Amino acid sequence: MTARVLFVAGAHTEIGKTHAACGLLRAAQDEGWRVEALKPVVSGFDADDWDDSDPGRLLAAMGRRLIEDELEAISPWRFAAPLAPPMAAQIEDRALALQPVIQFCRDRIADSEADLVVVEGVGGLMSPIADGGTSLDLLEGLACWSVLVGGAYLGAVSHTLTALEVMVARGEPPGAVIVSQSADPDAPDFMSTVALVAEHAGAVPVIPASRDGGFGWAGLALKAVFG
Ligand SMILES: Nc1ncnc2c1ncn2[C@@H]1O[C@H](COP(=O)(O)OP(=O)(O)OP(=O)(O)O)[C@@H](O)[C@H]1O
Ligand SMILES: [Mg+2]
Repeated sequence: MTARVLFVAGAHTEIGKTHAACGLLRAAQDEGWRVEALKPVVSGFDADDWDDSDPGRLLAAMGRRLIEDELEAISPWRFAAPLAPPMAAQIEDRALALQPVIQFCRDRIADSEADLVVVEGVGGLMSPIADGGTSLDLLEGLACWSVLVGGAYLGAVSHTLTALEVMVARGEPPGAVIVSQSADPDAPDFMSTVALVAEHAGAVPVIPASRDGGFGWAGLALKAVFG
């Protein structure tokens, strides 16, 4: 069977993409689905301490061991500098072209026996992920389902709706928008922020991911995307 592929795009960096990806992986496993995750390109990666890195968290959400082979299988392009990947790659004098990243994902998806493959981009939707390509270009190259993760900080509504407009304009509308609650106690009221995003999101379902510790939102997002 061909795996369903779900790309997790973000309206911004540090917005909750990995948190959302882990929630989606857990919700899918609760449904009895076999899962796979890919974070093909990661920057700010500490090779000596990566349990809490994006690939480390994705592996943990899948119940996989945090060992080098598993890491290599989901995140082959890893860079130390906490910068946009093309900049981080340049510092290490390494090549990072978009096409091999797309091809790696396609090959892993084609070989996968999973029911769901979750792919996390880097940074925001238009963050360069490789030379000549943004996270949106990777999504386009994979021609798959997607969710857009937005934040709830002051200014997040515009960032989220701008990313949504771009996805729609590029013919890649997400199956759902997940609004990830801010940790900032001074952030605007969370549910009012969610309502504002929903008011302008057209037919795209908008799902709040609150910080109450539950993952119910992830099940709702899976349903919104796959029915
Ligand atoms: N809705 C939420 N509930 C609880 N914790 C959250 C939520 N959203 C984000 N976080 C936490 O905030 C931090 C940043 O989120 P996360 O790492 O998921 O962002 P990201 O968009 O994947 O960042 P990056 O651009 O570095 O990949 C993490 O510690 C994450 O667990
Ligand atoms: Mg992440």
